[in-house]
Amino acid sequence: MKNFVFAIVGALGNVGEEVLKILEESDLPIKNIILMDVGHNIGKKIFWREKEYTVFESKPDGFLGADIAIMSAGSEASKELSPKAVNFGCVVIDNSTAFRMSSEHPLVIPEVNAYELENHCGIIANPNCSTIQMLVVLNPIHRKYKIERVVVSTYQAVSGSGIAGKNELKKQIDAFSTGKKIISSVYPHQIALNVIPHIDFFLENGYSKEEMKMILETAKILDPNIKITATTVRVPVITSHSESLNIQTKESFEINDIKTLLANSPGIKLEDNPEKNIYPLPLNSSGKDEVFVGRIRQDFSANNAMNMWCVSDNLRKGAALNAVQIAKEIIHRKLVRVP
Ligand SMILES: NC(=O)c1ccc[n+]([C@@H]2O[C@H](COP(=O)([O-])OP(=O)(O)OC[C@H]3O[C@@H](n4cnc5c(N)ncnc54)[C@H](OP(=O)(O)O)[C@@H]3O)[C@@H](O)[C@H]2O)c1
Repeated sequence: MKNFVFAIVGALGNVGEEVLKILEESDLPIKNIILMDVGHNIGKKIFWREKEYTVFESKPDGFLGADIAIMSAGSEASKELSPKAVNFGCVVIDNSTAFRMSSEHPLVIPEVNAYELENHCGIIANPNCSTIQMLVVLNPIHRKYKIERVVVSTYQAVSGSGIAGKNELKKQIDAFSTGKKIISSVYPHQIALNVIPHIDFFLENGYSKEEMKMILETAKILDPNIKITATTVRVPVITSHSESLNIQTKESFEINDIKTLLANSPGIKLEDNPEKNIYPLPLNSSGKDEVFVGRIRQDFSANNAMNMWCVSDNLRKGAALNAVQIAKEIIHRKLVRVP
């Protein structure tokens, strides 16, 4: 089998570092990695699979010789650099919003719609972190019982706002415990000891951009006929997003069959024993690959309705792991080529 060259852009960010960790642990045939970032990160040294690598400035000719690029540097960098990487014959897997809603670019969660990769034109989009974990859970339920409506509320970790979000929470906790002034610069309000129902910016329709991402991406990836509404909330948790899901189906179901179905579906781990205080928690999910699901119960207020709680590491399945799984799929399907 061919050995591949991976380029990681935004290599020293939250997601980039997680990509490097996952690639290091993986059994992928990797010949070389090219690390790119900006500013003070240029020239830094990284040890990866016991070899030292230097971080270079991100620029188009940095992709020379790369087979697969994983972009984790924000949408402006993706828009500028991804087409240039493709010109160098490199397949791009993009973590930003830049290409997610374009009809030309597949938006892929391998457990849900890996087949969409067959038609890629060089750039593959990785969905939003909150969408990924939700759809890993909704997909098997939809296939068997046909979902009609979903109401989702999220409880999203600060690492979803990059390194800056993590630093803000840590500094505010420190300031609170030492009696110093609390300063907010990443979020519009103090995030320590608070929850903020505001992720990304607000649109004219009253929804936040994050809420609309969940709605529109579900239509593109799973089924445009599913009615879905979302409320997205930032909470003072470092890593792992939590979601409350209320799901209504066309077909009737037994709640134990839903538990069995989810327990046997790819990428999901059932943690559902409330009597023993067992249910998914962000602290337990961080650093793990699965989407954890629990508190599965009938919703007695509507026909064919259920509630559940799902938690997943936003930097792993929500970003880096999903991107590496896409890389594995395109290698396996012999799709590492630019049409
Ligand atoms: N965090 C999540 O949960 C999550 C989930 C899904 C998707 N994503 C997406 O993944 C991307 C990265 O997120 P993150 O959380 O890793 O952010 P981050 O921690 O801020 O990391 C981004 C990294 O990219 C660097 N960078 C900025 N502009 C660049 C450029 N033109 N070329 C190369 N590197 C550049 C940044 O450097 P500076 O720090 O010097 O600016 C930083 O090292 C974003 O598009 C984000 O929307 C994040």
